[in-house]
This record gives sequence, structure tokens and C-alpha cells, in this order.
Amino acid sequence: MADARRKPVGVFDSGLGGLTAVRELRRILPDEDIVYFGDTGRVPYGTRGRDTIIRYAKQDIAFLLEKGVKYIIAACGTVSSTLPREYSDALPVPYTGVVSSTAQAAVRATRTGRIGVIGTPATVASRSYETAIRMLKPDAEITAVGCPLFVPLVESGYFDRGNQVTHLVAEDYLKTIRGADVDTLILGCTHYPLIAPIIGDVMGPDVALIDPGRETAKFAKAALERSGLLNDAGGRAEYYVSDDVESFHRLSEWFLGDYAGSDVHRISVDEYEV
Ligand code: DGL
Repeated sequence: MADARRKPVGVFDSGLGGLTAVRELRRILPDEDIVYFGDTGRVPYGTRGRDTIIRYAKQDIAFLLEKGVKYIIAACGTVSSTLPREYSDALPVPYTGVVSSTAQAAVRATRTGRIGVIGTPATVASRSYETAIRMLKPDAEITAVGCPLFVPLVESGYFDRGNQVTHLVAEDYLKTIRGADVDTLILGCTHYPLIAPIIGDVMGPDVALIDPGRETAKFAKAALERSGLLNDAGGRAEYYVSDDVESFHRLSEWFLGDYAGSDVHRISVDEYEV
């Protein structure tokens, strides 16, 4: 058992948005070792077809398994919404996506039962959040909108609170959700916490914003505790990407904040067997 505890937690995303989950993990589980894989060579997943997303996710998982992880977190709204349950249930280590813990937090937060969801086109088309919320709260009124421009805006650094371009795009995307008078909004993509202040300005102070990285990190902590897998002697993070490491260096500080600064390596993820 001691050996299993010392193994790292594996986290992956289509790109670097999943680092918002790593930041939360580092904050609440400072003694865990983390291996992160960001598929920066094949991002975005959110505008691709289901078969491609599943094939990519399986290769990402194969890489993390080869690194000997004890737990896998898909810190990607798109993968979490698309990877079949039969596949993740059969993995040799526990796996969690971001959808169910984030849906649970939204159901806890809402008072009116009117919940908004924003995500990539693939996440919204999958209706994953609707399904997860309705299991917990069958009478919830859910309004979901795909926001394809948010990811490129964040990756281009357009996330400061005063950014007029992102503010205008957010006003347009969030029109329907504002019209639905929601009191809770799920930021259903791990990039979106970076523009939470802009989204908050558009939605107003009475709408609770639910951060998938934060909720999933809390969920993972509880799961590791329950299964006796918590580490108390680690704290290192290793980062892997499938494209130039330069983009990681450029963007990771935005996502990781104070936790930026570890080594990053490049791998060929398409060599991994699905
Ligand atoms: N990481 C993806 C998500 O959370 C966003 C980027 C993409 O489209 O691949 O849905």
C-alpha cells in the first residue's frame, strides 16, 4: 500500500486548460506528485467528432498509465463528456472526469433550479451536464450554450478583466443564459476559469460560477482519502506536451499562477496504443 500511495496522480487535457485543475490540486493536495499531459499538438478537441475525441483521450490515458499513475483525472470538459463510461470503468486505476463533481456543485449552489452551462460545442452537444444535473435534480431548468471562441481567446492572452474583445464575445454568448434568469452557471471547460471575472461581470454578482477544476480537485482529494491513496511525501509536478514546449512556458504561468515553473517535456502521443 505504501508504494501505491507514492505514485503520482495523472491529469490530462486537450491542451493547457487542465492546468486550472492542477493549480487547485497543488493547493489542496500539496504532498501529491502530479504528472500532467497537455495534448497541445492536437488541441482543440472541442470542435472535433466523437470518434476522434475518444481515440485521442485513450492515447492520453495510455501515456499516463505508462507513467505509473495511481489515479487519472480528465481535466477536460470535452473528454469528460465524450469518453464512454464502460471504457473508464475498465481502467486499471480510478478515473474521474469533470462533469459529475461540477454538476453536483451546481445543484448544491442553485436556489431557483435554473442552471446555465457553457462549454465547447462537443460538450454542449453531448448533453453530459444536463444528464448529470437531472439525475440529481430532475426538475432543474438547464440552458446550455457552446462558446467556441473562448478557448482561442484565453490561449491568446485575452483574459484580463478589462479586455473589451472578450467582454463583447461573452455578452453575445451569454445572452440566452441571462435571458433564462439562471442563478448558477457552470464554466464547463477548464479554460473558462481564467475569464471568470469577465463572465461574472456579464452575468452579475448574483450568479454563482462553478469552476470544474476546483470541484474536480476536491472530488479527487476525497476519493484518494477514501481509498487510502493520499501521499504525504511528494509534491513534485512533471509536465508533458505533444507540441513545442515554448507554448507551455508562455501559457502555463497564466493557468498555474504561483505553481508555475517546473520542467516540461515533449512526447509523441500518437505512438501510444489505444
Ligand atoms: N480542454 C477543453 C475542454 O475543457 C477545451 C479545449 C478544447 O476544445 O480542446 O473542453
